[in-house]
Amino acid sequence: MEKFCTEKSKALHEETKKYLVDGVGSFFHITSYGEYPIAITHAKGSRLYDVDGNEYIDYVLGFGPMLCGHCNPTVDAAVKAQIDKGTHFSAPTEDLLKLSKKLTEIIPSAESVTFQNSGTEVVMTAMRLARAYTGRYKIIKFEGQYHGWSDEEKISIDAKSIEEMGDREHPNKIIHTKGQRLTSADDLIVLPWNDLDILERYLQEQSDEIAAVLMEPVMFDSGPILPKPGYLAGVRELTEKYNVLLIFDEVITGFRLGLGGAQGYYGVTPDISTFAKAVSNGYPFGVVAGKYEIMNCGIHSSGTFNGNPVGTAAALAVIEELSKPGTYERMEHLGQMLEDGFRELGKKFGIKIYARHMASIFILFFGFEEDTDDFRDWLGKADIPFYREFSKRMEQYGVRLTDRRGREYLSVQHTEEDIRRTLEVAEVVLSELVS
Ligand SMILES: Cc1ncc(COP(=O)(O)O)c(C=O)c1O
Repeated sequence: MEKFCTEKSKALHEETKKYLVDGVGSFFHITSYGEYPIAITHAKGSRLYDVDGNEYIDYVLGFGPMLCGHCNPTVDAAVKAQIDKGTHFSAPTEDLLKLSKKLTEIIPSAESVTFQNSGTEVVMTAMRLARAYTGRYKIIKFEGQYHGWSDEEKISIDAKSIEEMGDREHPNKIIHTKGQRLTSADDLIVLPWNDLDILERYLQEQSDEIAAVLMEPVMFDSGPILPKPGYLAGVRELTEKYNVLLIFDEVITGFRLGLGGAQGYYGVTPDISTFAKAVSNGYPFGVVAGKYEIMNCGIHSSGTFNGNPVGTAAALAVIEELSKPGTYERMEHLGQMLEDGFRELGKKFGIKIYARHMASIFILFFGFEEDTDDFRDWLGKADIPFYREFSKRMEQYGVRLTDRRGREYLSVQHTEEDIRRTLEVAEVVLSELVS
């Protein structure tokens, strides 16, 4: 197997850096292994093509949105039709009604919806709604969970070590970037996830100040870590008992675990939930959904591009595409193939591989085999340098994985042949790495 030559990507990166900060469109496009990112010319189905003419099987999928695959014919036809009719009106359309109604039918918590353009914005809106509705300001969030990049969202999303996280019962609040106000975290309570006892203690003591508990229902953004059996239902019970709202951030799980998101998958209905990424297959769009009286409690959430007709057309087409019979089953099947294949490779090379799939998401990591409980547990066991080196080498042979946290995305256009090829490449890479 020949390693790809990516010299043109390297040269392009050097030149771009002169004019564009870090030479990339977004901070997370910088690879965690500190080298230049591959530059893309075009994409189709499950494949990406770079400026050097290399072809990659893509499991990054634009950090998740491309659930229907690149250049999906249904979605792109709807978008092209909308472009011919105009791209931005700042006014209601018939499609807005159609989409809003549809979302209230497919998302269990959605009695009413509102739109934004990104995951960061929908979570900001959800927090504002919770505060306005309850008249309280504190929000509980969990260690290792990412909800966007605003000052208040980018707290305790990661840690250099378990020590940095402080005492488990009273975790440190970790600020992540220069320029973030030190007071950003003042209204946040940060707790370890998957622990009902600690959560209840805080709710008992401070519920008269707490507006909401905000969580990713599955910790895909870090870990990935699954909720312990009964945990989500337990959180729902506790939030009801202490009269605090429950917000599910479904920016990753939304449409990926099914059209009803994680709330549909696990049968636990939050008060408010947020969707973005996969809702519109690459066109910026975000959804906040929730109980009618909460959603309509009178906050202002503005935005020039909210409810944009192109994103609206894309979202309607995505729902149509994903509603076709057998769509999720096919992705489940491919995820199962990856899971089985990586478990076999773990045995063959005598190394610990964590491999799991859920609907259209495949989870891969090294250093442990069983589920981890929370971010501290994961951080203590995960072999991060090994995963980074593995993903870097996979890319050099034409399989593009996320370079950070082992969350690999499938699309409706991935095939069994993609999976077989991925496992072949993985075997070559592991034989290089495990002597
Ligand atoms: C769970 C979660 N919430 C919110 C966000 C922020 O979304 P965006 O990057 O669209 O602002 C992300 C992004 O990865 C996410 O994973």
